[in-house]
Amino acid sequence: MNRGPLRPGERVLLVDSKGRRYLVTLSAGAEFHTHAGPVAHDSIIGGEEGRVVRSARGSRYTVFRPTLSDVVLEMPRGAQVIYPKDLGPLLLLADVFPGARILESGLGSGALSMALLRAGAEITGYELRPDFAERARSNVADFLGAAALEHYHVEVRDVYEGIDAAGLDRVVLDLPEPWRVVAHAEAALRPGGILVAYLPTIVQVATLRETLVRSAFGMAATLEVLQRGWHVEGPSVRPDHRMVAHTGFLTSARLLDEAATTPAGDADEPAAPDDEPGGGAEPDGRL
Ligand SMILES: C[S@@+](CC[C@H](N)C(=O)[O-])C[C@H]1O[C@@H](n2cnc3c(N)ncnc32)[C@H](O)[C@@H]1O
Repeated sequence: MNRGPLRPGERVLLVDSKGRRYLVTLSAGAEFHTHAGPVAHDSIIGGEEGRVVRSARGSRYTVFRPTLSDVVLEMPRGAQVIYPKDLGPLLLLADVFPGARILESGLGSGALSMALLRAGAEITGYELRPDFAERARSNVADFLGAAALEHYHVEVRDVYEGIDAAGLDRVVLDLPEPWRVVAHAEAALRPGGILVAYLPTIVQVATLRETLVRSAFGMAATLEVLQRGWHVEGPSVRPDHRMVAHTGFLTSARLLDEAATTPAGDADEPAAPDDEPGGGAEPDGRL
């Protein structure tokens, strides 16, 4: 990632005294206009991160290179992005590693793609809409640089019609009917490969889980990530009044080897009740 003095063409995050955030692309001679007068880009260019610059009428702005979370929340969006609180756990659920061959669909604004690419994945991305495919590519290039596109192979196509790949490590889905991809993922993943789907409603999750039961996938688990910030200021230490109440559910499953999916199962080991504390298995969804 970029280090050293800030350069023209780079995107920076300006944070004002009230914590409001603005993404700005630096350009020599340009100005960022605020209610308290302009901030000259030239006062930022050549400086280090963490510096405070002032607008013409004296308002303070702290300058940083944006993190992935900053960019996901502030970047231009066509479709709803996956929030940072879900992106982190998703990377671990999918166990993304450098060089992992991943089929991702749909791409939307490319937030998930950016997280996967930064973890070192090699992505083939299927996106139904040409405008979203282009938006995702340009968001990826803006944040990770044009070289990242060498690891991001975007195709405008419908994943419900099939996946043209074999031996994939992961299939990661953020689209309305992922159960229509389960059979394709079975054929495209290697044994032990992981399927992860992000879904906003529990009815969709139930349909996916029913499909997974009838598939060659096992170890299915669903979880939801709740994030609650805290207000910490002198003696006032308490949970924030507001939080994002709901974003989506994450469901993961692993492709079993053919022999493990024969109907006989394991006759002499009764299944442990998974809704009793201490009943054997970890509660579903434990990270
Ligand atoms: C919610 S957005 C994905 C957002 C993305 N994960 C992100 O973080 O920016 C869902 C995307 O799935 C695409 N989509 C829906 N059905 C699809 C299909 N059958 N094949 C490929 N893409 C599809 C939509 O066009 C849309 O761009």
